[in-house]
Amino acid sequence: MVTKGEPIYEGKAKILYRTDDPDRMIQYFKDDATAFNAAKKGTIQQKGVFNNKISTKIFQFLEAQGIPTHFVDSLSDREMLIKTVEIIKVEVIVRNVTAGSLCRLLGVEEGIRMEQPVMEYCYKKDELGDPLINEDHIRMLKIATAEELAQIRELTLKINGLMKDFFDKLDLQLIDFKLEFGRHKGHIILADEISPDTCRLWEKGTGKRLDKDRFRHDLGNIEEAYQEVFNRVNS
Ligand code: TMP
Ligand code: ASP
Repeated sequence: MVTKGEPIYEGKAKILYRTDDPDRMIQYFKDDATAFNAAKKGTIQQKGVFNNKISTKIFQFLEAQGIPTHFVDSLSDREMLIKTVEIIKVEVIVRNVTAGSLCRLLGVEEGIRMEQPVMEYCYKKDELGDPLINEDHIRMLKIATAEELAQIRELTLKINGLMKDFFDKLDLQLIDFKLEFGRHKGHIILADEISPDTCRLWEKGTGKRLDKDRFRHDLGNIEEAYQEVFNRVNS
């Protein structure tokens, strides 16, 4: 057992706590929600509990399939024990179906399935609004080496295949999602969270949005959507 220490970082949706083991941290999931670079703020009741539990299931599934993650253990409704990593300052986005900012960027319609997944990188920099960047920018800014980027790309495409199947079995279509990676003992491992905050999930057949787009675009029944994904993931 580890002992919880001081908070070391508070983000928009989570708080990280130190522990008495330098290789372990506690990730605490809040109910706070933001969108559009925090221009929109709110609370989604019980979101922290749902996201912790949904992330736990997905990390356990991915680990079982050979994907290295920062997940160690579930400690409570809102707390996950994780490995201490050095976060790589890019958000890695994977898209299977057109939606969100891709439609705005390229002027394409929403809901078009793409033959090949589209990968994007955003620079994790709040002051700049997390801009879209490319691999040359990542190398230029020394965010990651070419070798690390190649590993991230390979892991991401593998994770996409695994997660598409995982959600497909739950009658959910994985439209797109965001991943973050970290350095741990010389290896790249999956970090952060995987939840309806970081994935677009549409119910098969109805197309009902079961993700944070309900909050972003005031679609109503936000808590119910997180609950629904939680129920399916635990079915
Ligand atoms: P986007 O279409 O708004 O760029 O979002 C693509 C995916 O990334 C979507 O599943 C939501 C997720 N995402 C995050 O997890 N964090 C973010 O800050 C943003 C902008 C998107
Ligand atoms: N992370 C984004 C924010 O700034 C939210 C999002 O659209 O997911 O607030």
